[in-house]
Amino acid sequence: MPNEWSKPEHSLAYMRRAKRQTQRQMGDETLLAELPADTRRVLDLGCGAGHLIGLALQRFPQATGVGLDFSATMLDLARQQFTGETRVEWIERSLDDPLPQLGTLDAIISSFAIHHCSDSRKRAIYQEAFAELRPGGVFCNLEHVASPTVTMHERFLSELHIPLEDDDPSNQLLDLHTQLTWLREIGYEEVDCYWKWREMALLIGKRPKL
Ligand SMILES: C[S@@+](CC[C@H](N)C(=O)[O-])C[C@H]1O[C@@H](n2cnc3c(N)ncnc32)[C@H](O)[C@@H]1O
Repeated sequence: MPNEWSKPEHSLAYMRRAKRQTQRQMGDETLLAELPADTRRVLDLGCGAGHLIGLALQRFPQATGVGLDFSATMLDLARQQFTGETRVEWIERSLDDPLPQLGTLDAIISSFAIHHCSDSRKRAIYQEAFAELRPGGVFCNLEHVASPTVTMHERFLSELHIPLEDDDPSNQLLDLHTQLTWLREIGYEEVDCYWKWREMALLIGKRPKL
């Protein structure tokens, strides 16, 4: 199945829908609360129009950030919304490629993006993020995860007023448990699901301090 996010109209339809979604605010807040108090540099994977990296930069006025996404449409929206903001840099790159080496990172964050990659690539991203984080740094993935049953999946869509036929065909949803297990295997500590609402889940792991 091709990744629909390479199509501008798919990105723009998401932006119209996202404005109506209030559930994720608690996930955003919980994520921000786990960023290290001395956060200076943040990478957002699949940043879209910059919602999450924007919140992180607001929370940490001394920090700089990098937003990475493969959609030129999304990055154009991000650049428009962040006009004049010199603390953020945008990188057009696919998550299917290895993560770029960007120097010391205190936090690698992501929201609703990594589930567009294959399961093997998801695990590789978690591994690469571990390697890129400084000791004590945090990986936070506010993610769309699989429901245990089809009925629960359909209920999730109906709660968000998404018709079944509009379910994103490029989603590659995976259960939460498998992903938390991977984070532990890779060596992250304090691994848990820090917040969840139906298929929205916040997975966090921290790279151990030296
Ligand atoms: C549901 S949107 C989320 C955007 C943003 N993180 C947010 O929370 O509003 C998914 C984002 O993932 C990006 N994306 C999907 N597949 C990708 C890939 N293979 N590489 C990089 N970005 C990807 C899309 O372009 C889109 O911006």
